[in-house]
Amino acid sequence: MECVSLSPSAILDKVIEATVIPSFTSIGPGARRRLFDWNELESYDLSGQTVVLTGGTSGIGETGAEIIASLGANLVIVARDQTKTDATVDRIKATTGNANISYVLGDLGKGDDVRSVAEQLGARHDVIHTLIHNAGALFPERRRAENGTDLAVELMVATPFLLTGLLLPQLKAAGPGRVLTMSSGGMYSQPLSVAGLEMTDENYQGAAQYALAKRAQVVLNEMWAQRVDKSDVVFHALHPGWVDTPGVSEALPGFSKVLGPLQLLRSPREGADTMVWLTADQRALETSGEFWHDREVRSTHKIPTTKGNDTPERRKRLWEWCEEHTGFTLR
Ligand SMILES: NC(=O)c1ccc[n+]([C@@H]2O[C@H](COP(=O)([O-])OP(=O)(O)OC[C@H]3O[C@@H](n4cnc5c(N)ncnc54)[C@H](OP(=O)(O)O)[C@@H]3O)[C@@H](O)[C@H]2O)c1
Repeated sequence: MECVSLSPSAILDKVIEATVIPSFTSIGPGARRRLFDWNELESYDLSGQTVVLTGGTSGIGETGAEIIASLGANLVIVARDQTKTDATVDRIKATTGNANISYVLGDLGKGDDVRSVAEQLGARHDVIHTLIHNAGALFPERRRAENGTDLAVELMVATPFLLTGLLLPQLKAAGPGRVLTMSSGGMYSQPLSVAGLEMTDENYQGAAQYALAKRAQVVLNEMWAQRVDKSDVVFHALHPGWVDTPGVSEALPGFSKVLGPLQLLRSPREGADTMVWLTADQRALETSGEFWHDREVRSTHKIPTTKGNDTPERRKRLWEWCEEHTGFTLR
């Protein structure tokens, strides 16, 4: 058996990781910041880098956008609501003093909008250094996209696949570009399933449907990394832990009610930390296809059944589903 020696900090980190509650709550970053002597995000410089971020008008994305702007990036927010987006961009410009913040409007639950967003981004930016797929939602009641697909699947599986595919030339031009996908620790509860990627109406459960989509995101992250050379683009998925955001208080009010008063939910800044760090730190360029939490690579399975279902055949079918569904084929 191979023997791996770990530092005391790494051992303590693994103990925290094995026990979900300390890892996912605000205890996680509080402990890991000290254990690993994290660089302050403010120590990074993103001047001259174009960063495209979806879901920058609320929660983790809004806070992440503000930090990325404060590091000097040329930030482009992809969002759906003109008034809300105008207000967000004006506020971030004012708080950071960075005038290079723009937006592209589109509903990321609609394929035509996604294509139009990609077209506008491609026309405005020859080079995109980082593309962050952060927009996402848990729908307690079933919602469907315009094309009839479950909206969680459309928004978090089909859309990131299509947007990544359409923007590959601009990402490659960054040599290497970075694609980050905000998944969720909830995905540990669900296997990779293509036949069951969309739950039936009879069995629909918002949290399970969300986790199925988040599992697919993590698998696709690995598949992109296998298909695109890491000298061209690196791909990383991540999960933010349990974060106090409008998304959580709307979709999971019980969760906020219990963990909020105990001060266990992470702040949006703690939730955005690894996303910003992967945008800025050189370490993200060393590997591709990893799954991160609190600035460390994490396992993608915690229970044997999900591992057993993650087969090459299912992966192949997932990729084919994405190609057929979006009309984008990687050549
Ligand atoms: N908070 C957590 O504890 C947690 C845990 C695990 C994973 N995550 C993931 O982290 C990401 C951010 O979550 P959050 O908690 O910050 O949620 P949030 O506060 O609800 O923000 C979600 C963002 O996604 C955007 N969005 C949703 N549907 C969209 C659509 N059809 N088209 C365009 N934009 C759309 C929202 O736009 P509007 O402002 O227009 O609504 C908003 O900017 C999500 O992917 C979520 O699944 C969060």
